[in-house]
Amino acid sequence: MSIRKIKINAGRSYNVIIGKGLLADLAEHLPYFKGGTAVIITDSNVFPLYEQKARKSLESAGYRVLTHAFESGEKHKTTDELVSILNFLADNKVTRSDFIIALGGGITGDMAGFAAGIYLRGIGYVQVPTTLLAAVDSSVGGKTAVNLNAGKNLAGLFYQPKAVICDPDTFETLDDLTFADGVSEAVKHGFITDEGFFRRLSGKTRAEYMNDIIEIIARNVEIKGGIVEADEFEQGRRQLLNFGHTAGHAIEKCTNHSVSHGQAVAAGMVLMSRAAYKKGFCYCDYSQEIKAAFSGFLGTFNIHLSAEQLYEVALSDKKRSGKTPSAGGASSAGGKINIIIPERIGKCVVKEIEAAELLDVFKAGLFV
Ligand code: GLY
Repeated sequence: MSIRKIKINAGRSYNVIIGKGLLADLAEHLPYFKGGTAVIITDSNVFPLYEQKARKSLESAGYRVLTHAFESGEKHKTTDELVSILNFLADNKVTRSDFIIALGGGITGDMAGFAAGIYLRGIGYVQVPTTLLAAVDSSVGGKTAVNLNAGKNLAGLFYQPKAVICDPDTFETLDDLTFADGVSEAVKHGFITDEGFFRRLSGKTRAEYMNDIIEIIARNVEIKGGIVEADEFEQGRRQLLNFGHTAGHAIEKCTNHSVSHGQAVAAGMVLMSRAAYKKGFCYCDYSQEIKAAFSGFLGTFNIHLSAEQLYEVALSDKKRSGKTPSAGGASSAGGKINIIIPERIGKCVVKEIEAAELLDVFKAGLFV
């Protein structure tokens, strides 16, 4: 069995271990914990699929195993659910020498990681991603969060896990749209930092991804890990990971999430590449190359939204740089905003613009 191990040297160093079938041997890859309680946090989708496998491995290794499963879906990524997890930990007398296993996709990782970061002022946790998106992106880098009424991920911590253990066999149960959410982030990683990797992913189908899945995840983890090591707290370079996301989140929100996250980010990347060229921020229009990267997946790049609609929503996005005090919402356009634009494939940069100019950027990106 081929296993890849990649070390992330953030504020805390940890290994990302990738291998088919690893879930059944989960406990073997937890060298940091000596007995005690393992608390599996998972959701109602993943619970019936993979909880038993994880539990069996942990119990065989002598851990007491507890499980808390919450209802799946973004609408359950709330402070209420976070408090339920914290109460579950406290009611079961979980101590600082115990640890959490975040078994699932990005929502599970974000909430379980947040709970681990604040329960008893911090206990250990291990990310066990079961989606491609969580494997290539959200399980690495220590971002944790829940949503507030005012928006997504508005409360959270940077809190690195003790390890990430990824078994790509778990992707077999993903539907195509959920799989494609991860493809968008993988393509993005190539586009922002590594042209060769971008070309290697371009046009691949799901089956072709799976044929090369260990190496694809490993390269993504190297790219993301390198960025996180350089800028753990998103003061500079880590913002590159937001390429396509300001427009993408606006598309998701304006369509009431009928466009999936992956499709919205893919469309956001196309929009921003076209806009960067038309605004004279770069010499070439890479939008067709980005579209071609997704040709192995069903997707839509026809965004039936106006630049004004996207702008309204995007201005309330948390990615506003905060350098000027105009964070009051879309009507207040006096501040600055950072956008991510390509210089070429494999090299993106952060560019600060007046928030009001974002409207022109969206106009340039939407209309060919
Ligand atoms: N998903 C973007 C980041 O971790 O910074």
